[in-house]
Amino acid sequence: MVWRGRRVVQRASFGYARAVAPKLRIEGGATLGERACLKFRIDDPADPREGFLVRIDGELRAFENRCPHWEVDLDLGLGDPYLADLDRIFCRNHAAVFDPRTGRCESGPPLGRSIRQFPIVVEGGEVYVILDPFEE
Ligand code: FES
Repeated sequence: MVWRGRRVVQRASFGYARAVAPKLRIEGGATLGERACLKFRIDDPADPREGFLVRIDGELRAFENRCPHWEVDLDLGLGDPYLADLDRIFCRNHAAVFDPRTGRCESGPPLGRSIRQFPIVVEGGEVYVILDPFEE
């Protein structure tokens, strides 16, 4: 099995008021290739977590790297949670499979539930994920 994508970790700053939803610039997001995955880290002191960006059918999508079953990292910190060869997001804990277009679980314990998605905005040719609130 071939793993595509990069294991780049990026950080967001939370040094300002939360009244405005913080956004995180994803360096390299605009040039992310088809079926590639780019992880990023969200250093929110109240809820540190990771996310990942994938490009599917030419469109970017950003997901939280957290399984809706046990609220643990999908990839267990071992690599990209997106399997390009299968075109599916995969949880290493209990082998759940998710549609990368919707984040919805197709098989496994969280069947029918979805990975949380971040809204994405493109400004000045740069890709940003809006960290709060999540798209459901
Ligand atoms: S923790 Fe992901 S399927 Fe159980």
